[in-house]
Amino acid sequence: MLKIIPNKKNIGAQIIVNLKDISNKDISKIKKALNKYGMLYFKEQKLTSKLFIKFAKYFGNLANYPRLKGLNKKFPQITVVQRKSKDKGPSFGEQFHTDSIYTKKPPRFTMLLSKLVPKKGKANTEFCSQYLAYKELPNSIKRKFKNIKAKYSSEGPISVTTKERVKEKGKNIKELKSTHKIFRKISTNHSIYCSPGHFVGFSSKIKNQEKLKNFYLIIKLRRSFSFHCLGKKINWLYGITDLCFIKQHLSKEIE
Ligand SMILES: [Fe+2]
Repeated sequence: MLKIIPNKKNIGAQIIVNLKDISNKDISKIKKALNKYGMLYFKEQKLTSKLFIKFAKYFGNLANYPRLKGLNKKFPQITVVQRKSKDKGPSFGEQFHTDSIYTKKPPRFTMLLSKLVPKKGKANTEFCSQYLAYKELPNSIKRKFKNIKAKYSSEGPISVTTKERVKEKGKNIKELKSTHKIFRKISTNHSIYCSPGHFVGFSSKIKNQEKLKNFYLIIKLRRSFSFHCLGKKINWLYGITDLCFIKQHLSKEIE
């Protein structure tokens, strides 16, 4: 029997189920939970690459990530997020970001499967609800940004954390750039669609551009994100496989 345990404020939920042995009914419950809670996590799963891919395919076609080397020829769609002992600087993706926002058609979801993580308490990942962050914004900002688009780049501020891994893919890794609306309507809800780690500017001139950029996008919105994140930090389990499933880029809810 699948069990759903929502976090505080309904930001994320734990799903108790064995993903190796999952029914169509379970999948439809997982889809509903994903729409409602935005991020789901499944503790202590023992998924092989094959089962991981099989599970992912229930939610759509798999995306090819253009910037990192795939796991191997058999599973090119699994990318390895790894910190090697000779790596310097911050860890991979160590800043608030939305995955692949710098592509023209970002994937709808991201899945993270832990394989080897640091000792307890040293590998937390924070997630945040951009729906709640939107709700917290003053109306004047909601009006101001209503039709504004932002520019994102794979070479944005967070790229310092990914250099080592990107290099391994080879020489021809081009900068990827995109433009997306800052707010989006998904079914009847509104959400911020933003990534401080990849943000490089607004696509059109707006009044007080610099002030808004620094204050609202980088500082104020991040504080809202963080505030809503405090409800839950995932403490990855050492040596045991956990799976996180995150809603990233939606124009409508999944059915
Ligand atoms: Fe990420």
